[in-house]
Amino acid sequence: MLKITFLGHACFLLDDGETKVLTDPYLSGNPLAAVSPDEVEADYIFVSHGHGDHIGDAPEIATRCGAAVGGSVEMTGAMFGKSGIETIPGNIGGRTELPFGSVKLVPAIHGSGVPGALACGFVFEIGGKRVYFAGDTALTKDMELLEYDMIDVALLPIGDVYTMGPEDAARAAWMIRPGMVIPMHYGTFPIIEQTADRFVDYMQDLAAGIPVKVLAPGESLTL
Ligand code: NI
Ligand code: MN
Repeated sequence: MLKITFLGHACFLLDDGETKVLTDPYLSGNPLAAVSPDEVEADYIFVSHGHGDHIGDAPEIATRCGAAVGGSVEMTGAMFGKSGIETIPGNIGGRTELPFGSVKLVPAIHGSGVPGALACGFVFEIGGKRVYFAGDTALTKDMELLEYDMIDVALLPIGDVYTMGPEDAARAAWMIRPGMVIPMHYGTFPIIEQTADRFVDYMQDLAAGIPVKVLAPGESLTL
């Protein structure tokens, strides 16, 4: 069983009934966030890169919950190395086994916000499912390799300007061939203002047969 809850922007809570995995918890700065940082519970927090809309409230939540923070070794070192927070450092292409399953760091084409670090995405194995969390990224040919990971759910940015827009995100879905796509990283601020409607249209044109589930902040899906 896996319950996926969208908390806004690029923040998702993955819950297998025992373990809660949180991604990019940008909550207090996000007027559309479904919860405040002091309401969310997490055992693990994974941060795709060092930009403020991804690090977000990770330090405060990790400290309050005693959660470990995972991400690239350079990012976790720079952002959390002196905090006393437990880290799970990795690097692109590497998988780490964890009590809930595993996490693999995968390429993302994006600035990392930390000198010497790479931005990344994650493939999580949790609750018997594989979830690809893209982080912030451009469309890249590397995404074709994700087909081998047999992704059940792909969480893809569609907001344009800083990441893939709706058309490229639909092309990414076609390369990845996931069981389902959930869009993220749109509508949060004026510069990425849009609904998911254009993405849904492009999916019909460019990735026919791959279902799209649009979650409003606070909505969940159980697989
Ligand atoms: Ni970013
Ligand atoms: Mn971002």
